[in-house]
Amino acid sequence: MDLGQVVHMNGGDGETSYAKNSFHQGNAVSLTKPIRDEAITSLYSKTLFKSLAIADLGCSSGPNTLFVVSDIIMVVEKLCQQLNHSSPEYKIFFNDVSGNDFNNIFKSLDNFKEKLQDEIKTKMSSCYFFGVPGSFYSRVFPNRSLHFIHSSHSLQWLSKVPEGIENNKSNIYINYTSPSNVVKAYYDQFKRDFSVFLKCRAEELVEGGCMVLTMPGRRNEDPCDIKYCCYYWELLAAVLNGMVLEVYIYKHPINEKEVFL
Ligand SMILES: C[S@@+](CC[C@H](N)C(=O)[O-])C[C@H]1O[C@@H](n2cnc3c(N)ncnc32)[C@H](O)[C@@H]1O
Repeated sequence: MDLGQVVHMNGGDGETSYAKNSFHQGNAVSLTKPIRDEAITSLYSKTLFKSLAIADLGCSSGPNTLFVVSDIIMVVEKLCQQLNHSSPEYKIFFNDVSGNDFNNIFKSLDNFKEKLQDEIKTKMSSCYFFGVPGSFYSRVFPNRSLHFIHSSHSLQWLSKVPEGIENNKSNIYINYTSPSNVVKAYYDQFKRDFSVFLKCRAEELVEGGCMVLTMPGRRNEDPCDIKYCCYYWELLAAVLNGMVLEVYIYKHPINEKEVFL
């Protein structure tokens, strides 16, 4: 089974869509703007590429996706004006798993381009957009084809559930009740996945290219301390455990009292 068809953000722009429920991730994108701006400024002023290929990995669909792209283009356009250089042709690649709502991104592109052109004021070069479905834990772009890679709030997703964690009872992630082998299994899986990610991107970036990666982390070194990170997994685990209990009660009405006593 292709997991990417099943595990993805909610599409569209309805009440329960990712587009309407990604305020927290949007904060991360705004907070990292200075880092992104500095990286793209340094990359572009060194090389003045005529064509700039930019990829957003784990782009999902919604306001954050286009905010990142417009932010990068605006920085380059301002630089071009300062340097009196004609603006480059842009190739923007949106990557996510195959079940992602790429159509929702495509539908908003005309509007996006119009707004961008209004903000930039001077005539900018052509901007081409591409959807690239596939796991970023594999090669998704041709050799040496990208100048700038961006990814925000996506690399915390592992390629699979770590093996040998069946004893992580009632949890769906690392929690203060998790045995130490569970912590190690998650750590090892992340290490393997992130190494694969870096090896693939090393092939895809042009020489001198640049990456800005943002992922949530812990303030505390204790991986089981969920106070500052991952408390929402505990909430979700409680809901799932509640649902399991309900199914159990539904299936075994006679045992109802036993379950609650
Ligand atoms: C929380 S969303 C972040 C979306 C967006 N970057 C933002 O900041 O709002 C994480 C995204 O990463 C994608 N993702 C997770 N694992 C992935 C993988 N292996 N390859 C490509 N995309 C992946 C998910 O489908 C999801 O759309």
